[in-house]
Amino acid sequence: MNKLVEILTYEVEAAFEKAGYDKQYAKVTLSNRPDLCEYQCNGAMAAVKVYRKAPIMIANDVVVALEGSICIEKVEAVNPGFINITLDADFVASYLKKMNAEDKLGVGEPEHKKTIMVDYGGANVAKALHVGHLRPAIIGESVKRIGRYVGHEVIGDVHLGDWGSQMGLVMMELKRRQPELPYFDESFEGEYPTESPFTIEELGEIYPTASAYAKENEEFKEAALQATYQLQNGHRGYTALWKHIMAVSLPDLKENYSNLNVEFDLWKGEADAKPYIADMVEYLKKEGYAHEDQGALVVDVKEETDAKEIPPCMILKSDGAALYATTDLATLVEREQVYKPDQVVYVTDKRQEMHFEQVFRCAKKTGIVRPETELKHIGFGTMNGKDGKPFKTRDGGVMRLSELVGDINSKMYEKIVENHAIEETEAKETAKKVGLAALKYGDLSNQAAKDYVFDVDRFISFEGNTGPYILYTIVRIKSILNKYEETGKKVADCQIQKSESASEKALMLEVAKFNLVMENAYEELAPHKVCAYIYDLANAFNRFYHETKILSEENETKKAGFIALLAITKRVLEACIDVLGFEAPERM
Ligand code: ARG
Repeated sequence: MNKLVEILTYEVEAAFEKAGYDKQYAKVTLSNRPDLCEYQCNGAMAAVKVYRKAPIMIANDVVVALEGSICIEKVEAVNPGFINITLDADFVASYLKKMNAEDKLGVGEPEHKKTIMVDYGGANVAKALHVGHLRPAIIGESVKRIGRYVGHEVIGDVHLGDWGSQMGLVMMELKRRQPELPYFDESFEGEYPTESPFTIEELGEIYPTASAYAKENEEFKEAALQATYQLQNGHRGYTALWKHIMAVSLPDLKENYSNLNVEFDLWKGEADAKPYIADMVEYLKKEGYAHEDQGALVVDVKEETDAKEIPPCMILKSDGAALYATTDLATLVEREQVYKPDQVVYVTDKRQEMHFEQVFRCAKKTGIVRPETELKHIGFGTMNGKDGKPFKTRDGGVMRLSELVGDINSKMYEKIVENHAIEETEAKETAKKVGLAALKYGDLSNQAAKDYVFDVDRFISFEGNTGPYILYTIVRIKSILNKYEETGKKVADCQIQKSESASEKALMLEVAKFNLVMENAYEELAPHKVCAYIYDLANAFNRFYHETKILSEENETKKAGFIALLAITKRVLEACIDVLGFEAPERM
């Protein structure tokens, strides 16, 4: 279904031509002066160069040519040459009716359906999930869902950090505690135990202890690095131990992500790149892309046009060990072979920007990916505490994710039972849903690249630009629709009517923007655009709601029109929160 701006652009194009001007100037956009008009065209100003006339004269000619358009109620030429458009209410109502008849509310299928891989989450196995893992999970999940909504094939991959130095640290700490285990016996040739030597709780404690110990003990640190290297090169005992670390960590990670409503299609990790590394290195050498530099193997990726220094991409360290770039490149080799993605999107902290710049350039230059494969990095900013410094627990530690989520849920629970009498299980369920919305919206409503202040008290408020406010609006609509059905009438039978008040029309115009917003959010990989939109939409609804007697309206047709408008507003809001990765309760 065409977007409103497209339909209007066609109308205005025809008018430009009718008035003797080129239609390339006829682009219509949303108004940036909503107090003056709903849509606008600024093309008369640009056309001046060609036609050597005052822009207002061109605008006036176009306005005359637009007379009789069924889309437009009022059109004006305004100095110096704006064309301001107010839409016809019947036209808007018919547009909403068409939207309502479609499953995806006017979002069409893409001309070319892409395969997109979203690489997000990226937890490092053996370390507890902490608040630092929130942003990649929340943003990535939303980007994935937006891509799916606009009709692409999107594959989410968690790309675990399961191959790095934390593995060596955990193993060497275990060796300190239980040196008798067969994994550390180089002469052991039997079958390793099937039972893990540690539980998830123990593992959660082993890593921080090891990491702290490595800071004070150089020898231990060396041993851990050595063990990591040996693991990466197929050491039998360490490989067996690694499998235990993975088997113990995965269920816990899955549960944590699932509590955030984050689901991955692929549970792959850096270790899965291993089978591709040797051949890739061989290829890079043979084709002359890689060369030695102080013992390390590197690929130059700087370009003449670079404004800043882009260091070479390091493929192997001087000791032959693989690095972060190595596994990322080898993962691209695998992705090209198995999934042939048109686009790969990575969601990480923006401090990894240089890493991805190097990896992307290297992958393109060496033909690891096809020239047309789009590689994108969404680099997000830091989550700060109210003091403006990176978010910490009260005692200065890094907060575990489960603790943070638990905190928000209990605060939410208190609010909900305070608000009204509600059964405990329902209150808990509701608190979980609203808490998640608070958390996710608090994050997603900011442009990803910006740092933001993690302010739980603000996020859980039912007022202002928050997740709970959006949910409250949806719940309010649900309640009105339920009451309408309780009178024996069906919401599904209600027909959208032409608006009669300003607040009703404003709400309809907001609803009508949905397809534009969704496609734009996809193109810019920008969930915050969806947030900004539903905030406007919720405000438009609440304004309408406060000014209008809905259920007590006596004219049945008019009342049914209101109900139909509420129903489509709810559908749009629900589609939006679904792509943001949360849902609304029945009551709150
Ligand atoms: N494990 C990495 C980290 O903690 C994130 C992984 C992101 N994905 C990637 N393909 N590099 O920073």
